[in-house]
Amino acid sequence: MKMSKTKIAPSLLAADFGNLQRDIELVDRSEADWHHIDVMDGVFVPNISYGMPVIKAIAKYATKPLDVHLMIIDPDRYIKTFADLGANNLTVHYETCPHLHRTLQAIKAAGMTAGVALNPHTNINVLEDTIRDIDLVLLMSVNPGFGGQTFIENTYKKLRDLKALILHKKTNTLIEIDGGVTSENAKALAHAGADVLVAGSFIFKSKNPIQTIHELKEITE
Ligand code: DX5
Ligand code: ZN
Repeated sequence: MKMSKTKIAPSLLAADFGNLQRDIELVDRSEADWHHIDVMDGVFVPNISYGMPVIKAIAKYATKPLDVHLMIIDPDRYIKTFADLGANNLTVHYETCPHLHRTLQAIKAAGMTAGVALNPHTNINVLEDTIRDIDLVLLMSVNPGFGGQTFIENTYKKLRDLKALILHKKTNTLIEIDGGVTSENAKALAHAGADVLVAGSFIFKSKNPIQTIHELKEITE
């Protein structure tokens, strides 16, 4: 059982980029816990989102922690840059890190918490020897690159495997689920042990995002 309430992290990827300040301030005013910021390079994933100047602008208005999800190759190049931009948590993809242990140490040395994201095809067991060094594991519940995709049901099995690994190794690692999260699956995910739920389209494409965030908080209690 989780010790604390499920965190909700709205993904700004689904925000209105013409009104980014408005949407950041909306999240600030809401019951959301973190701002989730997706960085894509068009190489690791088939899409490009936004980079440093935009994140600098986001950081100017954001009053909640910045949860940065890097979908880029060779993320080590930018660890210090993201720390300077004000990232609180920096998540790298397992699939992009040949020296994952070194990368995790570098993220923490730069003053951030360290997250590792797994693509839908990547098995939990690849984290057996690093889980003690990981503050957060992000399970991709869609293939990374785009918002608005359908949740992959096998994520529940991975969530159970990850929870078992965390309990077995007695770590405080948080579990974050990213992709296709809605009010339909949020409760089951929270009950299965998810600590953080990322939601993009479901929040920002709704009529009243503040109310939608409230509903997600309520149903995951
Ligand atoms: C996808 C990103 C997600 C995305 C989620 O590559 O990592 O954070 O914004 O969007 P939804 O909630 O619309 O699936
Ligand atoms: Zn993400």
